[in-house]
Amino acid sequence: MEHIVITGAANGLGLQAAIRFAEKGSAITMVDFNGDRLAEGAEQVRRAGAAKVNTIIADLRNADAPGEVIAEAWAFAPIDVLVNSAGIYPSAPMLELTAARWDDVQNINVRAPMLASVALAHRTIAEGRPAAIVNISSTVILRTRPGAAAYSASKSAVEMLTRSAALELGEYGIRVNAVAPGFVAVDSPINPVTDEYSAAVSMNPLGHPGTPDDIAAAIVWLAGPEASWVTGSVLRVDGGSSTGSRATPLSWGTTSLPDDAPVG
Ligand SMILES: NC(=O)c1ccc[n+]([C@@H]2O[C@H](COP(=O)([O-])OP(=O)(O)OC[C@H]3O[C@@H](n4cnc5c(N)ncnc54)[C@H](O)[C@@H]3O)[C@@H](O)[C@H]2O)c1
Repeated sequence: MEHIVITGAANGLGLQAAIRFAEKGSAITMVDFNGDRLAEGAEQVRRAGAAKVNTIIADLRNADAPGEVIAEAWAFAPIDVLVNSAGIYPSAPMLELTAARWDDVQNINVRAPMLASVALAHRTIAEGRPAAIVNISSTVILRTRPGAAAYSASKSAVEMLTRSAALELGEYGIRVNAVAPGFVAVDSPINPVTDEYSAAVSMNPLGHPGTPDDIAAAIVWLAGPEASWVTGSVLRVDGGSSTGSRATPLSWGTTSLPDDAPVG
């Protein structure tokens, strides 16, 4: 039975990933700093079929927390998979950025996944066990938006952390990948969005919004045996929204080009 550790598991994408892993009968450690939501989420994960559920309340902004979480989770059972889903995406316009706001976003979104990955790698290498790590990036690294400088920078760093970790840890049997979701509504107490924003960023070539389960499916696939030769990859799961903008009109304003139109 696999033991999966998921941070940010009290809500949203982390919780849905926990439910997906539970449906496969995995043992799951759910980590979050929202104790009430974590307890509710753990009930859902139990009902979904998890072999065992362990919860850890931790504030991953603290530098010691990721290592302590891995140690506590390892004591519950050796860890096979780490999903770093805890994250914040506050609206912080450029002119209102401060050192504290910037650091908060980087510490939870990038430093915590890095520290948790390093702590896990030390343990699996010492015991000669393989492991899979799945980080969560975002489409904002390709097309940012107003108020997302700190967030976009953090997710760009997550993608390079993913590649660096994959490069250095592959020889120890540790695979490291990321999922880059497009916007999906998660009804989050810590990451609220307006209806106006939600409608604007839900547009994509497939024409319908994504769900947390679309993202959870990709996380489970990257963590599992069918992705055994995949490492350092970022899987974009976004309904095609990162491909471009359908709001841009045809350059000639018509689908029938004149015969002498230049190619390209
Ligand atoms: N929902 C989306 O549209 C979307 C798109 C792209 C990327 N993402 C990324 O997916 C991940 C999950 O986001 P979500 O949409 O599910 O949000 P969410 O708010 O539903 O879940 C995030 C969870 O992380 C927890 N958390 C936040 N700060 C924490 C801290 N300091 N210590 C411990 N736990 C903490 C929260 O309590 C929450 O349960 C994030 O990394 C986010 O950046 C989300």
